[in-house]
Formats: sequence, structure tokens, C-alpha cells
Amino acid sequence: MAETATLHIFRFDPEKDKSPYFKTYDVAITAKMNVLEALLDIVDKQDGSLSLRYACRGAICGSCAMYINGSYRLACQTMIANLNPSDITVGPLPHLPNIKDLVVDMTPFFEKYERIVPYLIRNSAPLEKEIPQNLKQRKAIDEMIDCILCGCCYSSCPMVWTHRNFLGPAALTKANRFVQDSRDEGLDQRLSIVAGEDGIWRCHTIFNCADACPKKINTTASIQDLKRKTIARRLHLA
Ligand code: SF4
Ligand code: SF4
Ligand code: FES
Repeated sequence: MAETATLHIFRFDPEKDKSPYFKTYDVAITAKMNVLEALLDIVDKQDGSLSLRYACRGAICGSCAMYINGSYRLACQTMIANLNPSDITVGPLPHLPNIKDLVVDMTPFFEKYERIVPYLIRNSAPLEKEIPQNLKQRKAIDEMIDCILCGCCYSSCPMVWTHRNFLGPAALTKANRFVQDSRDEGLDQRLSIVAGEDGIWRCHTIFNCADACPKKINTTASIQDLKRKTIARRLHLA
């Protein structure tokens, strides 16, 4: 493995730059270095003006989602050894407003997330103790619970690019997570949101989102689940 990696990094400071550009940095690397560590090395030793977002360094907070060598990835989960170290391109998540360098504005993503009511709805008496689930009930939501809200699926979705109000794959998958939850009592409320004009029927089943997800969540399948559930409800079958 080469001892140096060459990174071409997207740079844009709206206070100084007329347009974005890529700047190249060489970084001394170790065998187990990931892209986030290389970026932090650049900030520490070469260019403290480079902006990026991260927190956990362990693929659980979703903050370091970036566009690396043309793929949606978590920088902290992307090993340099698995890339060609002499040519690594790092950009911010596309199709989200750029704030500076590798930092994007996640407001549109979280506004849509809020719209699907992302918490358990209970219409019956307030909870006084936990509601147990059996193994089958828990299994039904297992995969979707792993979402870390990184935004990769949202950024990759062509329908988000062309229809700015489309709820997008992450919010819809979160809605399905509650629709499939045996403890939730908000089915009709939630289906009326996801089946509205900005919801599931905008999805063209292109699978970009499922391919982009670093947690391997099948977001497209979730949207299909919601479509089936909506039709079944309208036919009084569910
Ligand atoms: S499957 Fe649907 S939500 Fe996913 S990228 Fe394609 S259009 Fe977007
Ligand atoms: S579904 Fe996957 S890609 Fe989308 S926000 Fe959640 S973890 Fe990220
Ligand atoms: S720093 Fe938290 S997911 Fe990468």
C-alpha cells in the first residue's frame, strides 16, 4: 500500500469564492486509515480552513456522509486501503445546499422527516409501562431502526432533485418503521401523509436510495410496503 494518499477535495467558501473548486492534498497514511482521519489530518497539519462535519467516528451518527469517488459513503467507514490512494475525490452530499466545503445544509432533509410524525402515536390511554413486542413484531422493524439519518439516500434520489417537496426515501422509510410497529396507533394519520402529493406515488422505484445507504437499509422496499399498505387500506383489506 502506498504511504501517501492524494485527495482532491471540494472547496467552497461563500464569503470568498465565486464558485467551487477542487484542491489537492497529499497525506501520509497508515494501513488502517479511513477517509475521515485523512481529512482531519489535513485540517490539523495543512489547512485549518477546511470545513467538514463529523461526531462519532464509528458509523453511528451519520454526520460524515460525503460523496467519495462518486459514491455515497460515510467518511469514517471508508478505508483508504479500499480505494486507489493516488486518486481520491471527496465532495459534499450533492443536491443539498452547500454551506462551506464538505458541509451541507440538512434543513430540507429534516423538515421532511418531521412531516411524517417520526415518533410512536398512541391514541389510547397514556402509557404507564412499556409495551413488550414478540420476536416477530420486533423483526418487522429491525432493519429500518438502523437508520442513522445520514442523508445519503435522500441526496441520491432523482425525484428529490426534480420535485423539491418529495418526502424522500429516509422520511418514508421512517414512516414505514412506525406503520410496521405493533405498538403504533397512527396508521391512518401516517398513511394520509405519505400517500399525499409529496409522498410514495412520486417514487419511481429506481433503487438509487437503497444502493446509497451505508447501513444497507432497503428504502425502496419500504416505500413499496407503504404503497401496498395504502392500497389495502383503501380496499378495506387492512
Ligand atoms: S426508489 Fe424512489 S425514493 Fe429511492 S431513489 Fe428511486 S425514486 Fe427516490
Ligand atoms: S436510510 Fe440509510 S441512507 Fe437513508 S438516512 Fe437512513 S442510514 Fe442514511
Ligand atoms: S463520524 Fe459519525 S458516522 Fe461518521
